[in-house]
Amino acid sequence: MPFVNIKKQYLAIGMLVFVLLFLFNTRPAFQCQFNAEVSPYLPVIYGITPTYVRLAQKADLTRLSQTLMHVKNFHWVVIEDSLEKTKLVANLLKESNLKYTHLNIKTHKTKHSTPVPLMRIKGARGLLASGVEQRNLALDWLRGHLDKSENKAGVVYFMDDDNTYSLKVFDEMRKVKRVGVWPVGIVGGMRVEMPLVSDGKVSGYNAWWKPFRPFPIDMAGFAINATLFLEHPEAKFSRKVQSGFQESEILKYFTTKEELEPLADNCTKVYVWHTRTQKPSILNPKKLKRPIVPDDHIEV
Ligand SMILES: *[C@@H]1O[C@H](CO)[C@@H](O)[C@H](O)[C@H]1NC(C)=O
Ligand SMILES: *[C@@H]1O[C@H](CO)[C@@H](O)[C@H](O)[C@H]1NC(C)=O
Repeated sequence: MPFVNIKKQYLAIGMLVFVLLFLFNTRPAFQCQFNAEVSPYLPVIYGITPTYVRLAQKADLTRLSQTLMHVKNFHWVVIEDSLEKTKLVANLLKESNLKYTHLNIKTHKTKHSTPVPLMRIKGARGLLASGVEQRNLALDWLRGHLDKSENKAGVVYFMDDDNTYSLKVFDEMRKVKRVGVWPVGIVGGMRVEMPLVSDGKVSGYNAWWKPFRPFPIDMAGFAINATLFLEHPEAKFSRKVQSGFQESEILKYFTTKEELEPLADNCTKVYVWHTRTQKPSILNPKKLKRPIVPDDHIEV
């Protein structure tokens, strides 16, 4: 009989511990663990980011890479606009512990359009006629990579290196079947540029800048099912289109307005902002009256 009593006591204590553990295990933490372990299908997000040398480059890439460290199943494709890969970008990628592919291609000059990767035109946004070669190189890489991969499920997202991304935008794009769209904050002269949705379908767009574009959507406002790039080997960006038409140029291969999948609560939430890093003004050391200690050996 005493033996049985002891067992009951242990049982009671055990149950109490279990109940306490359950109560103190806060719900969000519990859910997070649950999602991470149980979700068997999480499409890879291929983030394609063209970048170029400038003073704020490391600052911008640091901020972006540290956002991306929080994104699961993410593969960062970074393409430098340069003849050779730079040590700065190579080291930053290596130290990030992200899964990445580092590529480079120099924007080539043509008779008709001078490449101006550094210049940003007033009233417009984004890099004028730039990023075309870089993004196309990334798409070539992607096709080769997917051809070899057993798991071809993935999503392609074109990411500027100085935008601001909420982690929520990555959750949204994993829902993409073909092409998903969502609003972009602070872009094109507007607080928010966004597809207009009625009955769960895109019925129009709220865009002030070049509203006659076939898809008046910023590069940060859509993601494409990666498999579609294998089905459309011809799909690429073009240098022949005017600024602001690159988005329409790539989207036309895959979708129509009617087929777009509105995400972010039927395009009512802003999870990405087209922020811009101001060009820093730095004094010319040669023109300073008071000499300063040379700092060329310091990577900034
Ligand atoms: C992506 O496209 C492929 C090919 O059309 C399709 O088989 C796959 O189901 C799509 N992915 C999703 C998540 O719908
Ligand atoms: C979007 O709108 C459709 C149609 O009104 C509705 O059925 C659907 O639940 C909405 N989706 C979200 C995420 O709110």
